[in-house]
Amino acid sequence: MTLQAAQKPPADSTKTLYGGTGSRRLTVHDIAAAKQRGEKWPMLTAYDAMTASVFDEAGIPVILVGDSMGNCHLGYETTVPVTLDEMAILSAAVVRGTRRALVVGDLTFGSYQEGPVQALRSATRLVKEAGVQAVKLEGGERSLPQTEALVQAGIPVMSHLGLTPQSVNTMGYRVQGRSDEGAHRLLRDAKAAQDAGAFALVLELVPAELAAEVTRTLDIPVIGIGAGPGTDAQVLVWTDMAGLTAGKTPRFSKQYAHLRETLGDAARAFAQDVAGGSFPAEEHTFH
Ligand code: KIV
Repeated sequence: MTLQAAQKPPADSTKTLYGGTGSRRLTVHDIAAAKQRGEKWPMLTAYDAMTASVFDEAGIPVILVGDSMGNCHLGYETTVPVTLDEMAILSAAVVRGTRRALVVGDLTFGSYQEGPVQALRSATRLVKEAGVQAVKLEGGERSLPQTEALVQAGIPVMSHLGLTPQSVNTMGYRVQGRSDEGAHRLLRDAKAAQDAGAFALVLELVPAELAAEVTRTLDIPVIGIGAGPGTDAQVLVWTDMAGLTAGKTPRFSKQYAHLRETLGDAARAFAQDVAGGSFPAEEHTFH
């Protein structure tokens, strides 16, 4: 869709997730209902209040404070170094910047792998301190005890399977589930995550046919990234989506704007005005 065509949400959207006009914050029950209706919906990452408020006003129903903040916001090379402190501070900012979106905070590497007790402590912090409505954690079978403990404690959990960037040091950045065995494992993990009580599942970098099969099999919504068109929802990292990321963006991503160019142009224009003495002008000046 073009940017102009996307200016307004769909006309009959009061009950839909995307573009819905209600002012209350969305819940995991709204997300579940969208799957029943067969509605496809968008999710974006955000790492600060101002950007989050733009996406909230645009009707994005779910905002993920992803640990992709490591690469996209904090200047790390991977998501691995991101700390729970950093996640808590930026998640709180995103919650403050939004009114309607359901905000999901990522459990950072090392904040839940020790087991359910550590996971509960970390997730409780994000819910109480930052005010997120749900948390996300990576891994299938290996993270089931954590998922069960959080759900039992009343914390909604979004699972993340396929490519799990916190495991980059063992997994690399490769499409997952291409072999028969890998596909079976992924399907098994997806069902197990649902059985453990996850309210949604992110599938990253998996073949489209497999992602569609998981989506058909599960009752909970499946959110794809690099997983083809057959999932219930799609997520993109906002800096990739808006063209702020430097260099090459992943093939599965799409740029809907060119913010890097726009910001660079603005900075250069400002610098030239200052160097040339045309800023500040009379209208910017107090006497
Ligand atoms: O951290 C993140 O942004 C994510 C998305 C890619 C799903 O996990």
